[in-house]
Formats: sequence, C-alpha cells, structure tokens
Amino acid sequence: MENGAARTAQPVIVAIDGPAGTGKSSTSKAVAAQLGLSYLDTGAQYRAITWWMVNNGIDLDDPSAIAAMAGKPEIISGTDPAEPTIAVDGLDVSGPIRTQEVSSKVSAVSAVPEVRTRITELQRSLATSAEKGIVVEGRDIGTTVLPDADLKIFLTASPEARAARRSGELKGSDVNATREALIKRDAADSSRKASPLAKADDAVEVDTTELTLAQVIECVVTLVEEKRAAK
Ligand code: DC
Repeated sequence: MENGAARTAQPVIVAIDGPAGTGKSSTSKAVAAQLGLSYLDTGAQYRAITWWMVNNGIDLDDPSAIAAMAGKPEIISGTDPAEPTIAVDGLDVSGPIRTQEVSSKVSAVSAVPEVRTRITELQRSLATSAEKGIVVEGRDIGTTVLPDADLKIFLTASPEARAARRSGELKGSDVNATREALIKRDAADSSRKASPLAKADDAVEVDTTELTLAQVIECVVTLVEEKRAAK
C-alpha cells in the first residue's frame, strides 16, 4: 500500500469443481454468502438447457439436433447466494431441473460442444461482471471456463459418501440406485471429449469424505482469505 492509501478490495474469482455429491453446492453457496461474493451454479445452467430440450421434444440421441438448438433458449441465472435462481425463457425452472428425467439426460446434452460454448460464454460474462467477485461451481471451471481463477478447489468424496448425501437430498430414494446413477453420470462427465470433469493442475484437492459441511466451508473460506490477503 502506497502512502497509507486505503486498499480497494479486488474482486476474487473462486472455481469449485468436482463430481456430484461432494458438497459443491452447499459449500460454494455458504462460502459466497460468508465472504459477500456472488455465486453461480453452472450445473443448473446445463440442467436448464436440458430441461428445455426435453420440453421441446428434441431427440437427445442425436447430438446434431441438440447442437442446432443450443442457441435457442434464453437462460438467466440469479447469482445471490442467499437466493440463487434459474430461469428459461422467463420461466422459473429451479424445481423442474432437479427431476430424475433431467438428471439422467443432462450428461448427453452437456457433452455437445455447441452447448458448452454457449453456456461457457454465459458463465464468463457473469464471472467478469461480479463486482466483489464470485464463487463458480461446476466440472470444468478451473480447467476451461476460468483458467485464471484466483483460487481453484477440487472436491472429492468416496462414492458411498456421495450416494448417502444425494439420497438424503432426494427423500425416499434408494441409496444403491443413487450410487449407481452417480457413478454412471461421473463416468460420462469425465470421459466426454469437450471439457470433461477434471482437476486443474493448480487446484487444491479437498477430500470431504470424513469432513462435516462446516469443516469444508471453513477450509475453503480460509483458502480464499489467504488469496485475498496476497492480492
Ligand atoms: O452439478 P450438477 O449435478 O447439477 O450438474 C449436472 C450436470 O451438468 C453434470 O452431470 C454435468 C453437467 N455439468 C457440466 O458438464 N459442466 C459443468 N461445469 C457443470 C455441470
């Protein structure tokens, strides 16, 4: 700091990636809320475009049909961590995007390069316009969407822990069926050609299997504060 001038807080960009059920959403929202940052759930955007494709009768076995429609729906994400929103063509779809049908089809839609290009543009524009900074959660944020993020976190957990958490969220669901569905989705997300689920070389890996949510949040908040202090 020169001549004792007050230092203006620089926006901080945090990328949190990892497979389903590792606590990405709960952690990202809480970290953003605690630090006064915006929050973006990129999985919700892929779910929203998938919901639109299903609703409009697009043949999801045909990547060229998906590609041709990738630019059609208007997708708007609200980035307040206290009340994140997702709308397609003006309609609130936060409920419909969480159905089993959308979950089982989202990997096929999100593997299409034209879909990724479209959604990546939205993500970059939201990230760069967040005044105080943003926590962006997804699968390819540290590797592809925001490779210059100030901090990259990669969350992992055992398949058993992930399935147990997801079953808890989807009340009444069978834990074995949830585990199988998660493993199948992770395999598809990790093996696709276009920006697969992957840990960036410079990401900090946090295994959440034995940690409580509060512990994971504390760990990430500390890492962000360290980065901010060093900026
Ligand atoms: O985080 P989620 O489970 O709601 O994500 C749903 C799907 O969206 C996930 O199976 C893969 C896709 N996705 C992606 O391809 N890239 C991202 N950055 C985020 C999600």
